Amino acid sequence: MRTQVAIIGAGPSGLLLGQLLHKAGIDAVIIERQSGDYVLGRIRAGVLEQVTTDLLDEVGVGQRMHKEGMVHGGFDMLFKGERHRIDMNRLTGGKNVMVYGQTEVTRDLMDARQAAGLVTIYEAGNVSVHDFNTKRPRVTYEKDGQTHEIECEFIAGCDGFHGVCRASVPEGAITEYEKVYPFGWLGVLAETPPVHHELIYVNSTRGFALCSQRSSTRSRYYLQVPLTDKVEAWSDDAFWNELRLRLDAGGREKLVTGPSIEKSIAPLRSFVAEPMRFGRMFLAGDAAHIVPPTGAKGLNLAASDVKYLSGALIEFYADKSEAGIDSYSGRCLRRIWRAERFSWWFTSLMHHFPENGPIGQKLQDAELDYIVNSEAGARSVAENYVGLPLDFGD
Ligand code: APR
Ligand code: PHB
Repeated sequence: MRTQVAIIGAGPSGLLLGQLLHKAGIDAVIIERQSGDYVLGRIRAGVLEQVTTDLLDEVGVGQRMHKEGMVHGGFDMLFKGERHRIDMNRLTGGKNVMVYGQTEVTRDLMDARQAAGLVTIYEAGNVSVHDFNTKRPRVTYEKDGQTHEIECEFIAGCDGFHGVCRASVPEGAITEYEKVYPFGWLGVLAETPPVHHELIYVNSTRGFALCSQRSSTRSRYYLQVPLTDKVEAWSDDAFWNELRLRLDAGGREKLVTGPSIEKSIAPLRSFVAEPMRFGRMFLAGDAAHIVPPTGAKGLNLAASDVKYLSGALIEFYADKSEAGIDSYSGRCLRRIWRAERFSWWFTSLMHHFPENGPIGQKLQDAELDYIVNSEAGARSVAENYVGLPLDFGD
């Protein structure tokens, strides 16, 4: 088989890139290791920046998001038992975020791809990338007991943190920056009305908590837990009791509990691989970077990466110019590092770090006090939360 762009991975990065290239008349094939149902079974964050919603609109998959998603103009920060609202809309001159689950974004992109009759190869085994330092890269994979080969002009590594693309780059050609946090997030999805109409980020001496939602009848909650905790050891009752203890009196009163639909523990990591281009192979999304989930930047960064990448490829095919391809990595990394900084900072601000001792707690309290009581402090959080522009213009 031949194609212009072989996309490895059918997560949000690969699927969105596929749609952007399709709109531009560039031929692409997606090769995915798992089945479509498996991809849809993964539950991830659910806050979309306007840059992301604009992209989904641009590729024509925004209808259901506008109907079912919830526009939020602010969120609460709860510490020392009191809630303070960050009025993002006012602080950013009218910007909001869209609360719409990543699973739904993935489903909408998959449906659009199928409706357009575009090729996605699911359940591809032993996917390998070859010759990406030449003008004729290849991808091989196994399916139905046979080895297949795709000849292409470019490879897009949209295959997530554990993918094959980054792993295929010679060690000396890549630099990795990593920080692993000493705790995880225990997440619960429940068919219960959310405790509040907006999100609540909680700093408590018992640990961080987050009250999020998927709809007016479906809630998503998280608790900071030690990395050694096992999800099986957390009964639903234990989860709700601990969440109650981290909430304020108003939250405790309004909290509606119910059986969990999903429960899992995820580690927290900051990670960036530089550069993101190796000859004719590009990395995008989780393949190149991971943020801790505080602030929900993961999907939004994946979206901006593939916007830059599609732009670079469109320029290459339309003008025979390599300028966009050459600047891809630098453009992405500038926005990525800003989001990495924000996600690390927001994580450090909201979580409990007993290893920092009483002075650590006091300094955190002072910073929280500053953020919610200073216009400049609150605006800085709001500006980062709604998302930085695609082009900084400076
Ligand atoms: N061959 C083919 N596909 C692969 C391989 C491989 N060797 N390795 C991984 N994949 C697939 C995975 O099965 C997955 O479906 O690549 C896809 C990568 O998807 P994601 O992990 O969702 O990454 P990405 O598309 O970059 O999305 C980033 O989604 O993962 C979240 O938190 C992340 O919100 C962020 C966003
Ligand atoms: C979620 O809804 O899953 C979510 C929301 C906000 C975050 C992280 C996760 O910061």
